[in-house]
Amino acid sequence: METIDESEVSEINDAGVTDPVKVGHTAMVDRDNRTTIGEILVDNPRMSCRDVNVYYGDNHAIHDVSLDIGRNEVIAMIGPSGCGKSTFLRCLNRMNDTIDICKVTGTITLDDEDINSKKIDVVPLRAQVSMVFQKPNPFPKSIYENVAFGPRIHGLANNKTELDEIVVTSLKKAGLWDEVKDRMDQPGTGLSGGQQQRLCIARTIAVGPEVILMDEPCSALDPIATAKIEDLIDELRQQYTICIVTHSMQQAARVSQRTAYFHLGDLIEVGDTNTIFTNPRHKLTEDYITGRFG
Ligand SMILES: Nc1ncnc2c1ncn2[C@@H]1O[C@H](COP(=O)(O)OP(=O)(O)OP(=O)(O)O)[C@@H](O)[C@H]1O
Ligand SMILES: [Mg+2]
Repeated sequence: METIDESEVSEINDAGVTDPVKVGHTAMVDRDNRTTIGEILVDNPRMSCRDVNVYYGDNHAIHDVSLDIGRNEVIAMIGPSGCGKSTFLRCLNRMNDTIDICKVTGTITLDDEDINSKKIDVVPLRAQVSMVFQKPNPFPKSIYENVAFGPRIHGLANNKTELDEIVVTSLKKAGLWDEVKDRMDQPGTGLSGGQQQRLCIARTIAVGPEVILMDEPCSALDPIATAKIEDLIDELRQQYTICIVTHSMQQAARVSQRTAYFHLGDLIEVGDTNTIFTNPRHKLTEDYITGRFG
């Protein structure tokens, strides 16, 4: 990585807020004063992150990120590989707790409640803020059982009729019901990749989440399956808040209302998706969205 002299560093830091100076994208910058450009706050946040830092041992992977996530919005997290998108996403339902060397500081609230507080039980938290992974990962069970599993362990149904209803409703919301209604007892792993991903989304919906986290949910899918998931994301937004990590700029532009651009662990810029893609204010954002970097 190329370094730059100190006068240029202070120029970048000052510039970061109002009038970004164009600098080489490989420049190494002092991040101590780095302020995110754009609107980190929203009027009616579902989740709020303040001064979030994440460390893997000595590796400081996320630097002082503050960001609100609004109700019924799709927010896209974009940025070059290794910039911390997945790490940040995992903070939102405490999935980083499962990584021994990982330490998270700062405050993250869900509906004004601190999710890192000692009194929070992570099992219901991960039902409220639920994750869909990059690679569809159905359980080695029937289609029915894949969806029924969560509601059963969370005690969401009082009897078989109620459980059946949750399964059917979740599959309908995930846009999969018509394709699987005659084969509910067949293995989930026997579905196509796109169907498996919708099954995983149905499994997530079945536990009644408020926020759905998606980490590159379409990267293993073909364009037709991807288009179905994107349509679905748009419908799900009516009821849920969705945070999606994607490497596809087109996808971020198609599905999200807000976009957050990460670079080397910093949240560089956040704002209305249309503005980020047509009129980015930071040189790093511009370089990334125009394909000059990443
Ligand atoms: N489980 C882990 N243990 C140690 N370090 C990790 C772990 N996961 C991520 N990191 C480090 O944290 C930083 C951010 O990684 P992260 O996976 O969040 O990036 P990303 O933006 O999701 O990248 P990609 O687009 O490739 O998925 C990287 O330096 C990475 O090496
Ligand atoms: Mg990732």
